[in-house]
Amino acid sequence: MDGKSTRPPTLDDALAALRRGEPIGLPTETVYGLAADAHDPVAVRRIYALKGRPSDHPLIVHVADALAASRWAGDWPEAAEALAEAFWPGPLTLILPRAANVPDEVTGGQDTVGLRVPAHPVAQALLRAFEGGVAAPSANRFGHISPTTAQHVRDEFGDAVPVVLDGGECEIGLESTIVDLSGETPRILRPGKISRPEIEAIIGPVAEGADGDSPRASGTLASHYAPRAQVEVLARAPLVARYKELQKRGQRVAALLRGQPFKDIEGEVLPADLAGYGHALYAALRRLDARGFEVLLAELPPHTAAWAAVNDRLRRASAPRDADGT
Ligand code: TXA
Ligand code: MG
Repeated sequence: MDGKSTRPPTLDDALAALRRGEPIGLPTETVYGLAADAHDPVAVRRIYALKGRPSDHPLIVHVADALAASRWAGDWPEAAEALAEAFWPGPLTLILPRAANVPDEVTGGQDTVGLRVPAHPVAQALLRAFEGGVAAPSANRFGHISPTTAQHVRDEFGDAVPVVLDGGECEIGLESTIVDLSGETPRILRPGKISRPEIEAIIGPVAEGADGDSPRASGTLASHYAPRAQVEVLARAPLVARYKELQKRGQRVAALLRGQPFKDIEGEVLPADLAGYGHALYAALRRLDARGFEVLLAELPPHTAAWAAVNDRLRRASAPRDADGT
């Protein structure tokens, strides 16, 4: 595509870029992905370079349907078939033993592969036309907040990623639930919209969290998904007290409230319901970051299984981080 063109990129532009080995911005129902041909090791290496992500962190392969997914796996257990049937296309990633021809660049050298069938109509149309699989991490620089609009992707990469398909705001707004089916017991490696009880209703008891043997998942690093500002998560009353205390000290502080505004407290109010909250969270964090606040006080969400993904992302956003901001 002509870099100076103002014409929005089409599906054909995206297919041509993928075939040239160029990563593209791809909308999904969870967050935007930075997608490249998963069978092209050079293209996949470009994803790591663009993101500034260590190349031993595995990527998810996105395909059009469960049959296509099964071809990327070395083994397709009954649990995979049952979960695929229940939740694909949708916000679920399955970790399975890899098929022999999956490039090491995709799996980070591990013997497993992450597979997902996204539901977004633009992602579906692209994957059907492309016929292969696309490796796609979230389209943010390593350690940043995942993008939920095409503009967020352009903000992250600018001219380095000229083709960003615009699929509007991501409906869910939080990354997919990751279920590892490669070990003895199924294990949730990353909570998402599809909750533990929903998964257990299909395949029975599952473990949760990384164990010593689990494959690496960068989304499981303590301080992933972090805005620039320091984040603290507090119930409403202590949040208000903390806000006033920080303001008195002259700090630039904003609040991320849920449901109800609070008089004289600056920041944003997210919807009280889970779907609305998840949809809006990352865009709100980006806006508050752009306004230059030093501290964000996020109101503690409900502590239920359904809210696990939101609690997880807020916890990571508030985790202490290294000096390099990752
Ligand atoms: O919703 C999503 O999953 C989005 C959209 C674009 O599909 N993708 C996404 O990708 O969040 P990424 O790379 O930002 O996060 C995927 C996570 C990473 O933490 C990665 O380490 C983990 O999945 N992962 C991928 N393949 C894996 C594997 N074989 N074993 C363990 N973890 C894996
Ligand atoms: Mg990510």
